[in-house]
Amino acid sequence: MSRIVYVNGEYLPEEDAKISVFDRGFLMADAVYEVTSIIDGKMLDFAGHATRLVRSLDEIDMKAPCTIEELESIHREMMARNNLTEGLIYLQVSRGAADRDFAFPVGVEPSLVLFTQAKNIVDSPFVKTGMKVISIPDIRWGRRDIKTVQLLAPSLGKMAAKAAGADDAWLVEDGYVTEGTSNNAYIVQQDGTIVTRDLSHDILSGITRAAVLRYAAEAQIKVEERPFTIEEAKAAKEAFVTSATTFVGPVVEIDNARIGDGQVGETAKRLREIYISESLKTAI
Ligand code: PDD
Repeated sequence: MSRIVYVNGEYLPEEDAKISVFDRGFLMADAVYEVTSIIDGKMLDFAGHATRLVRSLDEIDMKAPCTIEELESIHREMMARNNLTEGLIYLQVSRGAADRDFAFPVGVEPSLVLFTQAKNIVDSPFVKTGMKVISIPDIRWGRRDIKTVQLLAPSLGKMAAKAAGADDAWLVEDGYVTEGTSNNAYIVQQDGTIVTRDLSHDILSGITRAAVLRYAAEAQIKVEERPFTIEEAKAAKEAFVTSATTFVGPVVEIDNARIGDGQVGETAKRLREIYISESLKTAI
């Protein structure tokens, strides 16, 4: 059965959902996006994703396609029309279609596209086994805090990981881990302290990151927001990543070195459980 895709005000079968070849998202990666996870037919932290979307749009001087209230109702309609109970909703806003020019076009309306992906995100295979990551240089642009669709560097990173028999890559700049290709990166020191890079233009301010750090503080777990090295990660007790679709994903190996005993760590396991149960309480 074909999905229903939202394109600029219309709900269409995916075969009929089309965007212009002149769309600046296609020509120049002049577009921003959000991924919101769905469990039990409810959106997790819709408000967080909507707020970050507005910020991304502001940072690149792009007009909002509609209000947050309208966005929320489009998300709901997409869940209903696609019978989506578990998985994700992808949203993309581009600057719209115009003759190719580096300068932004004047008087052009932004394009808004949404589609759904049904997926088992709660019972992910990584929950039991954990994932293996490799480290690679971070070759992305300097404004990673803006969630743009420039995803070639992360795609190349995932391919390098796959070629090395790993599941993902952690990106390293000036000797320190920035984040994962599509997630925020964390280590748990031998004393139980969670370490994750502080927010700046170098990383995406993860919506899951914000929630997990809040839950960690509530559970009296010490958190240090600072850069860390791959050497520190290898010597850590545990490691994990967070993202909207992974929640808290345990990492058990970095560059072929086992983290701790090579098993899924207790902190990651606990935070994953807390994250899912607490987020569901406020899901809409
Ligand atoms: N990725 N860092 C990067 C580079 C990301 O692409 C993502 C999310 C995150 C985590 O952000 P959040 O917790 O808000 O999902 C961090 C999404 C899921 C993706 O591209 O599919």
